[in-house]
Amino acid sequence: LHAPMKVVVVGTGYVGLGTAALLAYFGHQVTGLDIDQGKVDMLRRGELPIYEPGLGELMAECGDRLQWTTDYAAAIPGADVIFICVGTPPLPSGQPDLRYLAAAAQDVARHLNGKMQVVVNKSTVPVGTGDWVARIIEEYAPDYKEHQYNVVSNPEFLREGTALFDSLYPDRLVLGGNDGAGVARLLELYAPLIEQDFQAPAHVPRPEGYTRPEVVATSLSSAEMIKYAANAFLALKISFANEIAGLCERVDADIEEVARGIGSDARIGRQFLSAGAGWGGSCFGKDTSALISTGEEYGYDMPILRAAVAVNQGQRQLVIAKLQKHLHRLQGKRVAVLGMAFKPNTDDLRDAPAHDAIARLNELGATVVAHDPVAMPRARREWGHLNYTEAESAEHALIGADAVILMTEWKQYTEMEWNGAVRTMRQPLVIDTRNALRCALSTGTLEQIGRRGQTPAPVLG
Ligand code: UDX
Repeated sequence: LHAPMKVVVVGTGYVGLGTAALLAYFGHQVTGLDIDQGKVDMLRRGELPIYEPGLGELMAECGDRLQWTTDYAAAIPGADVIFICVGTPPLPSGQPDLRYLAAAAQDVARHLNGKMQVVVNKSTVPVGTGDWVARIIEEYAPDYKEHQYNVVSNPEFLREGTALFDSLYPDRLVLGGNDGAGVARLLELYAPLIEQDFQAPAHVPRPEGYTRPEVVATSLSSAEMIKYAANAFLALKISFANEIAGLCERVDADIEEVARGIGSDARIGRQFLSAGAGWGGSCFGKDTSALISTGEEYGYDMPILRAAVAVNQGQRQLVIAKLQKHLHRLQGKRVAVLGMAFKPNTDDLRDAPAHDAIARLNELGATVVAHDPVAMPRARREWGHLNYTEAESAEHALIGADAVILMTEWKQYTEMEWNGAVRTMRQPLVIDTRNALRCALSTGTLEQIGRRGQTPAPVLG
């Protein structure tokens, strides 16, 4: 790297940790900052506060190019670039809560050094927030007028579970700024990514045919809008697949065949057309409601997004309807739930479809036995309000159950010896909400989403 820079990354969630590891891997000197002393202590011991495959290995390769601190006063003055990657969790109104961002921006501003420093926002924030951060800096930075500061929006598109792959080999790099200097510095910072001239880590090899990301330089507010519009589009693409899947069940067509058939049209694309129990996770729900609520602020209705959200809610109820179709009253029935996090390869429970399924099963008086390869300890802390027992393995969860719901397509679930396992059930009913089981069961009933040969579940109001 011809010009290593000093970088501070504020916030050690998925986005912050991924950004810090990536830039240190490229050869920059990176300090990860979090106000949570517990998290910083963990990171200093080489432990990760989140589960993300391969991230620990990549960090270990960075040596002392990657440091951790809680101290703004020590970290900020020497930095060339400061990334703000704090959480923006949803408020009841649907708008994101910007209090962590405001606090981080103030603390950064107080310690700016008076030389040209670039403050980059990576947190997902409503359009216009970059300007607000710039105003906070203006207000809190010492001797603001004499100095030059620059606010850039650099949204993140990584998926949990494949965060490293997505960060190392992105489709695009979006840099939004209202004056060229900040963006120019980021182009330098990201040169190894743009040129793809870094040595690919052994555990995350460069995919065949991948060349480089497209650099999309925009205004501050366009960059902010790109992040929301991208997530909203992906969410509505999934909702569209789910809506078509419901019709497939009624007309005896198969959503898997249909998705392949339409997805091979490059204008549509194969990805994010998998029908299931509805999308979850920390982004899609939050970002669709934030866009809808931004629309409301301006008196602008967004019917397509509202429909995508409504279809998603219906899809979560469909899981229960499918159980009722076969088991009728669920009172006293024993239901195994495989997969608690919102998707495989993560322990993130935010907006997980499994949560709603367990809550509804609780209401209906069913007994729930749940399993997740990595999310059970987190669920013990965060899902105390739900009633379920933990199974020590997927196979154990099935013993004596009246039905099993496969909620996430973890490899260890899809590759389980299903035919043996279902024989230990009281009734071998398998609800595969991910359409992930490829083999026919030798005994019992396999119910999937939008597949041929199934009678549709009743529509719930
Ligand atoms: C998403 C975006 O993909 C990412 O670009 C953005 O930065 C953050 O939000 P993430 O929430 O980590 O990433 O997960 P993702 O893999 O996109 O899945 C989101 C949800 O959609 C999951 O519940 C998943 O099961 C569901 N999904 C995804 C489907 O139901 N069908 C699909 O075809 C794809």
